[in-house]
Amino acid sequence: MVDDTDSKLTVTMKGIVKRFPGVVANDGVDFEARAGEVHALLGENGAGKSTLSNVLTGLYRPDEGTISLNNEVVHFDSPREALERGIGMVHQHFRLVNSFTVAENIILGEQSKNLMMDTSAAIERISALATQYGIAVDPNARIWQLSVGEQQRVEILKALYHGAKILILDEPTAVLTPQEADALFVVLRSMVAEGRTVIFISHKLDEVMAVADRITVLRAGKTVSTIECATTTTRDLARLMVGRDVVFDRVVRTSQAEPDNVVLQISNIDANDDRGRQALTSIFLTVGKSEIVAIAGVAGNGQRELAEVIGGMRNATRGTVAVNNEVIPNGRVRKSMSAGVSHVPEDRLHTGLVADHSVEDNLILKSYRRAPISKYSVLRRGVIRDQATDIIKKYDVKTPGTTTPVRLLSGGNVQKILLAREFNTSPSVMVVSSPTRGLDVGAIENVRKRLVEAADSGVGVLLISEDLEEIFALADRILVMYEGTIVGNIAAHDATRESIGLLMGGIAIHQENN
Ligand SMILES: Nc1ncnc2c1ncn2[C@@H]1O[C@H](COP(=O)(O)OP(=O)(O)OP(=O)(O)O)[C@@H](O)[C@H]1O
Ligand SMILES: [Mg+2]
Repeated sequence: MVDDTDSKLTVTMKGIVKRFPGVVANDGVDFEARAGEVHALLGENGAGKSTLSNVLTGLYRPDEGTISLNNEVVHFDSPREALERGIGMVHQHFRLVNSFTVAENIILGEQSKNLMMDTSAAIERISALATQYGIAVDPNARIWQLSVGEQQRVEILKALYHGAKILILDEPTAVLTPQEADALFVVLRSMVAEGRTVIFISHKLDEVMAVADRITVLRAGKTVSTIECATTTTRDLARLMVGRDVVFDRVVRTSQAEPDNVVLQISNIDANDDRGRQALTSIFLTVGKSEIVAIAGVAGNGQRELAEVIGGMRNATRGTVAVNNEVIPNGRVRKSMSAGVSHVPEDRLHTGLVADHSVEDNLILKSYRRAPISKYSVLRRGVIRDQATDIIKKYDVKTPGTTTPVRLLSGGNVQKILLAREFNTSPSVMVVSSPTRGLDVGAIENVRKRLVEAADSGVGVLLISEDLEEIFALADRILVMYEGTIVGNIAAHDATRESIGLLMGGIAIHQENN
């Protein structure tokens, strides 16, 4: 495989239409990405970004419109054909084989052509590419040993190794820590400096401003405009995406937090992670009525385990969880639910929802045993459908109907369904993990308002997030988690980004621990 970046590629998509039953996902999209640029693709949840990428990589065939490479019209019947012409994609869900090494995964695609794999030559080439683009990864490591960020680097190397001159990344930073995201941007910039083309999809406007040269905004399947990054602002971009002004400020509260009126009490909790290593050590925390307590921390410091212990999905090895002063039995999801805990997990499609089930059925997953949803153990379809219709409207969920399977919805709309269901269970305590990850700016505003509404109505909210902007917009109090312990407890109005950031990095500062 030769790496001839000299043959630079400009891709032009004209009038792309892609229909699915009940939706026109792309409705005449015009899009052009030039060699040597990072071109960001922006748009609300369901605007058609992923669909357009899938058309470009040969996963979907457009119903109308053309794709040209350097003015030559091309047709792709599969991702392999697109890659042969130099178009590669890094999907949000990686397609790597866990038990294989990095190098084996990278050359996998070649096997059919070349049964006698020359692994050592391949490793040499992989290392050369890694050095060229500043991608730090060990070719001999096995995938299961790597962090999510490292696995993403393997996917990028794989695309480069197979000759991608145009690389599409669909929300690559959604799974990265802020530090990993910065490292990725350096890699992307060095790729375009070599004459490659990067198409970058993200909802994070400041990221887009930091890394992109040009931006194309899609709305409802149509191109709104293509602009130079240098001539725009995040506020303008938000308006272009949503079609109105978006407020980024702190949401105004109508009720006071009551930290002394404790609704959730965690006492001396220890717990192990999936591999049996200790993930939580002696966690004490409380959340009061109407209080929003944020847990800041870099992912992987025990936040997921803590949320799971509270939700009853994981056993604590020591300590207790009490809701409204009643200790809930260890590791019992249903008990935790009936005690009034609602839980919005990080991993939506695997633990939060049933992907193959319809929108309306997912909305009643937690309430189907109760009136008004069921009567004498019979589900009341009419009630279920009306409830679903109301929720779709209230949360602005983009779906063809209430009976559409949730796996067909765009990423952000899946999250709206999950949040709507959890808000609807009238909980005492809500544990929410990265609730706005993958959401567009308008949806973020909507979700934040709902969280504040919940708190105003008396719910104690435990917000787990790496996003300091989100934490400062919502929290009354900020706890910082580091290596399975709580290393800081600060009233939001006394906290600064710097102090929280340092604590997240394990650097203790002098402060009162209350
Ligand atoms: N395979 C499919 N079958 C049916 N409908 C689909 C399919 N893929 C996408 N859609 C629909 O097409 C529309 C556009 O979806 P797409 O995934 O392209 O949006 P997106 O801009 O990537 O959104 P997000 O930011 O939420 O990821 C949505 O209404 C979605 O429900
Ligand atoms: Mg998408």
